[in-house]
Amino acid sequence: LKVDASSQLARKIPDTLFGMFFEEINHAGAGGIWAELVSNRGFEAGGLHTPSNIDPWSIIGDDASIFVATDRTSCFSRNIIALRMEVLCDECPAGGVGIYNPGFWGMNIEDGKTYNLVMYVKSAEAADLTVSLASSDGLQKLASVTVPVAGTSNWTKVEQKLIAKGTNRTSRLQITSNKKGVVWFDQVSLMPSDTFKGHGFRTELISMLLDLKPRFLRFPGGCFVEGEWLRNAFRWRESIGPWEERPGHFGDVWHYWTDDGLGYYEFLQLSEDLGAAPIWVFNNGISHNDEVSTAAIAPFVKDVLDSLEFARGSANSTWGSVRAAMGHPEPFPVKYVAIGNEDCGKKYYLGNYLKFYNAIRESYPDIQMISNCDGSSKPLDHPADLYDFHVYTDSKTLFNMKGTFDKTSRTGPKAFVSEYAVWRTDAGRGSLLGSLAEAAFLTGLEKNSDIVQMASYAPLFVNDNDQTWNPDAIVFNSWQQYGTPSYWMQKFFRESSGAMIHPITISSSYSGSLAASAITWQDSRNSFLKVKIVNFGSDTVSLTISVSGLQASINALGSNATVLTSSNVKDENSFSNPNKVVPVTSQLQNAAEQMQVTLAAHSFSSFDLAL
Ligand code: AHR
Repeated sequence: LKVDASSQLARKIPDTLFGMFFEEINHAGAGGIWAELVSNRGFEAGGLHTPSNIDPWSIIGDDASIFVATDRTSCFSRNIIALRMEVLCDECPAGGVGIYNPGFWGMNIEDGKTYNLVMYVKSAEAADLTVSLASSDGLQKLASVTVPVAGTSNWTKVEQKLIAKGTNRTSRLQITSNKKGVVWFDQVSLMPSDTFKGHGFRTELISMLLDLKPRFLRFPGGCFVEGEWLRNAFRWRESIGPWEERPGHFGDVWHYWTDDGLGYYEFLQLSEDLGAAPIWVFNNGISHNDEVSTAAIAPFVKDVLDSLEFARGSANSTWGSVRAAMGHPEPFPVKYVAIGNEDCGKKYYLGNYLKFYNAIRESYPDIQMISNCDGSSKPLDHPADLYDFHVYTDSKTLFNMKGTFDKTSRTGPKAFVSEYAVWRTDAGRGSLLGSLAEAAFLTGLEKNSDIVQMASYAPLFVNDNDQTWNPDAIVFNSWQQYGTPSYWMQKFFRESSGAMIHPITISSSYSGSLAASAITWQDSRNSFLKVKIVNFGSDTVSLTISVSGLQASINALGSNATVLTSSNVKDENSFSNPNKVVPVTSQLQNAAEQMQVTLAAHSFSSFDLAL
């Protein structure tokens, strides 16, 4: 494998090449990175045929001791449902009667940690409520506070801290009373106090993202943005402002309710916290089953312009002031928007697209716009800065797609491979095999990064209790998480964005099952030549790596080899064995301009040569 590292043939990879695509799918956000522990905190959760229901809230007590119902008496006009709890017993059972919420398949309550409770209550007569964190059967109490409620016809905001005296991974929040009478509840929230930067995100999941150094964050989804029906699509305007006032919505593609605590503002905040450029995918008036005609699209265009003012406008502008009031007076630097998701070819796509495109170009000339239509094999028939390219296929096909952009026209819009993954036939639940094909595909994107500007794996997260899409990069439950091999594969590419890529040639009888790339990059102290090689075949391969054109010498001290492999190509990680397929790094003793390397069967290797 020959690397020509001379500066004449080197080319800079875009600073944005590798990033992330976050979708509210698989409970990635609600019950995922968003740390809210209460599920359906406003009692509004509904489905296609259910305007509202209290699921998963349940009742402590029996028909003789308690009666619970929803009514429309909330103090919040956009989410008007409240819970009415009537305690019927004169002599209530020990511990009282009440309601409990098990969160998203159990709350992870940890010894010594503080949990912030906020809830709105109303009671005609004074009462003492007991708020506790308890085991799933209610028997073990981890924390408990008494909340006195004054007798008044007004709603009162209650704020309390609960400090856990024990750990239980499947806890519940319960609110009980011993006193006969009626109490109303609304917007009951429980957040751990140690969220990432205090911004509401689960720290351990965000750490996994930071570890990949993402350069962009595409959000809030693909199909989630569209909806099965327009009425159920994500609407940024309904997801901003005080959390208590957000109506929430039923995501009808992935079939679950979100309180929209993780809203448009929080996605922008997350991008900032990750150091990633925000890419806002907005609904273009098209869902899976219905469309707004181009003649009627003007209000949707205005809505998107407002969303951009919310992100980028000064703190004095109409929508920028709303952002500032939420705690971010400085604008968020939105430089990319995607006009819809996977809608190319639909009846009103082009017409609607042009309306959005022209209006955004006029108001925000620097914003790069992403078309849903694939421009990799033929030119687009409409203006765009980038076009979106999605691929989900089997491992062999994806391996062979590493040359996809080799022949793409070098003029015109750039490619954004915003969703790629091995899936279905041989994907397992995220196997080594899939990750090798993906790695090969990415080396092809690196080589073609004069035309490919961005790429992201999909989907990013799955809550193990609701896997609607398989496989995914990061698997978690209420208290554990692990990366699939596809997650770890991405770590090999985290230095690529902004690095220099160099031409390589491979002459080997195994070259049909190899894929490779070479980059040079530097951190604040050192420079490296990084040669990545995928061996997709089942034979061990010996190669000589020869490097020419380097301006500095290779230093064996500080040079490493990192390998992702396993004894079986179908191997996967799991909660019980999270590190079965993870990269292993060792010192590269023989690092030199000519060096012999051995590639294990079914492996992905990175040779990092210190310069
Ligand atoms: O990543 C899962 C889904 O795949 C996305 O929502 C959609 O864009 C694509 O079809």
